[in-house]
Amino acid sequence: KLTGWEIVAVPGLIPAGPFFDHLANRRFPVTNWLRTKKELDYIVEPDMFHDFFGHVPILTQPVFADFMQMYGEKAEDMIALGGDEMITRLYWYSAEYGLIQEPGQPVKAFGAGLMSSFTELQFAVESKDAHHVRFDLETVMRTGYEIDKFQRAYFVLPSFDALRDAFANGDLAGIVARFKGRPALDPSMV
Ligand SMILES: [Fe+2]
Repeated sequence: KLTGWEIVAVPGLIPAGPFFDHLANRRFPVTNWLRTKKELDYIVEPDMFHDFFGHVPILTQPVFADFMQMYGEKAEDMIALGGDEMITRLYWYSAEYGLIQEPGQPVKAFGAGLMSSFTELQFAVESKDAHHVRFDLETVMRTGYEIDKFQRAYFVLPSFDALRDAFANGDLAGIVARFKGRPALDPSMV
């Protein structure tokens, strides 16, 4: 109600097309199965805990909620241009592993991958070994990632407006055209 989003139950990972269509219509798909106790800290596929506890609360943030809708609207176009890896990296480093540091505030986490991992959340926010990089749209879209290890880079937003504005006004198609097919940047080196 706060931002006009609704939740739809899905049986697991769904194909990219329907996923983007849900986002474009302010619907967030939430998986209907739950991890076991043994998988408390890490699972390969999203479960209800990851989707609901991780992704849903931040959808009450108006600017981030608008970004997610816009992401759903633009993603298919970027894929059609050959940018599917690049657009996925943007989602990965924001919706899943995003950090934010607003003026006068400590670094905070908002990404769902962090929210649903007790150990990585602590690492990302508190460890001196966590590699924090200032958010830059082009760099994010070019930086590779691994799904089964702690991230070797976390991009830090100065505000949610910076994310939405970069995505709304940035030259996404130009970035895709310049860098598609090129090797990803090493997250340790960005
Ligand atoms: Fe997720």
